[in-house]
Amino acid sequence: MTCLELPEPDPDSGLLLASLRQAGVEAEFVAWDDPDSSPPGRFDRLILRSTWNYHLFPAEFAAWIDTADRRTCLSNRAAIVRWNLHKQYLESLTAAGIPTVPTAWLRRGADVPLRQIVEANGWTDFVMKPAISASSWRTHRFRVDRGEMEQAASNLEELVRNRDVMVQPYMTGVDTTGEKAVMWIDGEVTHAIRKRPRFAGDGEFVSGAAEISPAEHAIAERSVAVAVAETGVRPLYARVDLMPDTDEGPMVSELELIEPSLYLVQSPAALDRLVRAIATAPAS
Ligand SMILES: Nc1ncnc2c1ncn2[C@@H]1O[C@H](COP(=O)(O)OP(=O)(O)O)[C@@H](O)[C@H]1O
Ligand SMILES: [Mg+2]
Repeated sequence: MTCLELPEPDPDSGLLLASLRQAGVEAEFVAWDDPDSSPPGRFDRLILRSTWNYHLFPAEFAAWIDTADRRTCLSNRAAIVRWNLHKQYLESLTAAGIPTVPTAWLRRGADVPLRQIVEANGWTDFVMKPAISASSWRTHRFRVDRGEMEQAASNLEELVRNRDVMVQPYMTGVDTTGEKAVMWIDGEVTHAIRKRPRFAGDGEFVSGAAEISPAEHAIAERSVAVAVAETGVRPLYARVDLMPDTDEGPMVSELELIEPSLYLVQSPAALDRLVRAIATAPAS
């Protein structure tokens, strides 16, 4: 599944489609938000891939996911997608003892003293982003020493009027070592890549296949295990995004179970694993 207006190209899609067809699977890309597209029940199986506008229509997307899950075999399944829509799931990871990026949660409509929050946490360089988001939508960095506090407060006021908002310290390690995305496909960690920092309006820059440390591997496995335990769903794919912390090692910034880029170009083995899992799964 994709969306009508893809905000950026998806390097996975052509590769996945070609490999699926090569494996004898009849496959095509269909937009979830295309009212003229065929109903989900026409397909034996739907795989969410580049539905990259869902955060703009979260209620509609959730309703569509439920329908698709009822009518056909959807990957990932609705229960785990719903669990993953709001980044509040990070709290479940934290509760399970997994290191996560420290976060202050600001509820929709709350009258929030931003200065108090950042001062109490000692954050002089911080990031503000919606709790339901993707592709760095409305994600901004603010620096107190650059006099950006006022701008941050008005940004928050605007954001929090209609949605839950997260404030986090700026993880400086993303500038040096970089953010790392660890892919998990059909039951196991397959590969990883590094990403450059990206804020609203920026494009994405990614590396080739990167090494996975034992700590990163364990965090990725444990994060997926929390999602499985809380939803009862075994996903087909997952991606765990890690930000390096100078003192405490890698911290989870996101667990992506909806429509993560899986950077299949960087790992033919992972592509094979995904194709095999799709081609051999029993139709529902
Ligand atoms: N706490 C943070 N410290 C440093 N960079 C951040 C932080 N939070 C977000 N970013 C930057 O913003 C990007 C988007 O944020 P992310 O949490 O990955 O949300 P999404 O991918 O859903 O838009 C990240 O890839 C990173 O470049
Ligand atoms: Mg991200």
